[in-house]
Amino acid sequence: MKVLILFYSTYGHIYKMAEAIAEGAREVDGAEVILRRVPETLSEDLLKQIGALEARKAFDHIPVCTVDELALADAIIFGTPTRFGNMAGQMRQFLDGTGGLWAKGALIGKVGSVFTSTATQHGGQESTILSFHTTLLHHGMIVAGLPYSFSNQNTIEEISGGSPYGATTITGGDGSRMPSENELAGARFQGKHVAAIAAKLAN
Ligand SMILES: Cc1cc2nc3c(=O)[nH]c(=O)nc-3n(C[C@H](O)[C@H](O)[C@H](O)COP(=O)(O)O)c2cc1C
Repeated sequence: MKVLILFYSTYGHIYKMAEAIAEGAREVDGAEVILRRVPETLSEDLLKQIGALEARKAFDHIPVCTVDELALADAIIFGTPTRFGNMAGQMRQFLDGTGGLWAKGALIGKVGSVFTSTATQHGGQESTILSFHTTLLHHGMIVAGLPYSFSNQNTIEEISGGSPYGATTITGGDGSRMPSENELAGARFQGKHVAAIAAKLAN
């Protein structure tokens, strides 16, 4: 049973969450967990200008996904930072290359799930995940989120991401806040939850 974690990250927050998602998914017996990123569409010059080159070193080694790899997975967990309340263009562009898979119904019945990050607490965490789900539904995927059995999403003791729609993290306006323990725990929970559903479906 294959769980593909497919992400885009500019400054590393989503990559950090993707690693936690992977940790959780690996806890499920028989899960083969594959981490992939979507192609970068920004030039090296632009990445330098926006101060993203250093952060990228952490995840440059992750292979870039091919569209065909999606068809081989039993579950796909997508990670994207928010851009104006929606997924990042890099992820959108990759997904817009999946028309051939759609035509074949290649993703029908696979589990799909989404996690995200925003700079501000209310900067679009829920809208990014919910609008992403539309694409998964067009592909016939079974959408999974982060159930309330991850009870730490109820916390009001600290600022924290995490919602029934999926794991999230808040980066701060300058990106200096990395995912908190609670947010990483939510990501691990989501990874395990999705892998467990995929394992049941595979039986
Ligand atoms: C063009 C652009 C649009 C963005 N739009 C939003 C937004 O609508 N709400 C928000 O809270 N953060 C927004 N951000 C901040 C990013 O979501 C933040 O940098 C990202 O979550 C960091 O994740 P990463 O380190 O994985 O790249 C935006 C950033 C850029 C560059």
